[in-house]
Amino acid sequence: MPSVYLDHAATSFPKAPGVAEAMGRYLTEVGASVNRGMYAAAQAAEETVLSLREELCALFHYPDPACCILTPGATWGLNFVLLGLLRPGDHCLVSAMEHNAIMRPLHALAARGVAFDRIPCDRDGRLCPDAIPRLLRPNTRLVALAHASNVSGTLQPAAEVGAICRARGIPFLLDAAQTAGHLPVDFQALGLSALAAPGHKGLLGPQGTGVLLLTRELAQSLSPVITGGTGSVSHLEVQPDYLPDKFEPGTPNLPGLYGLEAAVRYLLETGVETIAAREDALTGRFLDGLREIAGIRLAGPAGRDGRVGVISLDFPGRDNGEIAFRLEQEYGILTRSGLHCAPSAHRTLGTGTRGTVRFSLGHSTTEAEIDAALQAIRALAEG
Ligand code: ALA
Repeated sequence: MPSVYLDHAATSFPKAPGVAEAMGRYLTEVGASVNRGMYAAAQAAEETVLSLREELCALFHYPDPACCILTPGATWGLNFVLLGLLRPGDHCLVSAMEHNAIMRPLHALAARGVAFDRIPCDRDGRLCPDAIPRLLRPNTRLVALAHASNVSGTLQPAAEVGAICRARGIPFLLDAAQTAGHLPVDFQALGLSALAAPGHKGLLGPQGTGVLLLTRELAQSLSPVITGGTGSVSHLEVQPDYLPDKFEPGTPNLPGLYGLEAAVRYLLETGVETIAAREDALTGRFLDGLREIAGIRLAGPAGRDGRVGVISLDFPGRDNGEIAFRLEQEYGILTRSGLHCAPSAHRTLGTGTRGTVRFSLGHSTTEAEIDAALQAIRALAEG
């Protein structure tokens, strides 16, 4: 039985063409670290890492590659901003749809005297920007938001939130875990101060890679959460305050960064717009098919507008975990069930006690795979 991979919200698979080869080439032919040696292999590694920063900047329409911090994943970037910025007495605003990558650091900060509020969202998980001004306080230091929900695919009106933040001089942090590589994301047009994204989801690179883009102004106000050797200004025992070194201590994951460089190059060559249009059409096909099936409840937007291809279903009266198990065992369909590390989002969507079965689409998903999933959902829901 061929498997149908519909868990791209967790991690994309397969990776972009050339990723595995680039990682293998690094391990077998390059091997050197960056910022530590002057020999040719070290220079070659440095050039690849610089190309990666430039390509990520091109992808997110950001002009300054020095402000492109390479991280082990989106969680790190989000923590770098939350923990690096917020101090006791500060206030932060998030939405009611956040993933634990934002909520867990915030709860840790709350124990140290940082307050936060959640912007309310409707039953589809969409926040109303008009609710923001009354939630802002004189001590609000940050607004942090998942661009699209990893549970329901709901896309937030990031540009409107960005305009509100910019008008008040409040930094705006976007968690682009479910949009980077799936939709065009323009750092400046959205009015962002920071954007965190994983390398291993829509960017189609390997696990253990990610990016944090920062404005110089925000970077200046952040204390580095992790400090250590950077291979630069080695005579100093304090962390350099220039970018990207301020936030990149320790030897980076070079096999991963070679893979990510190949993946981002592929995305730029293919065009994220092309991928977005394809995924949107497949999402429409999936949603249209679901309307014909009894015995399921969709959590999140029923139409293809204002969402990405992350589709969560509740099978009322059934165990959603067992449905996911049977989807794999009987149909070869790979999904993720449960609360998806986002209990706040599930509470907002009304699925906080039962969780859902999540089908998430990606660059490699085909119409035949969508149809196979619909057939299996129908058989399990109506059977
Ligand atoms: N946040 C990832 C997911 O939604 C891991 O599956």
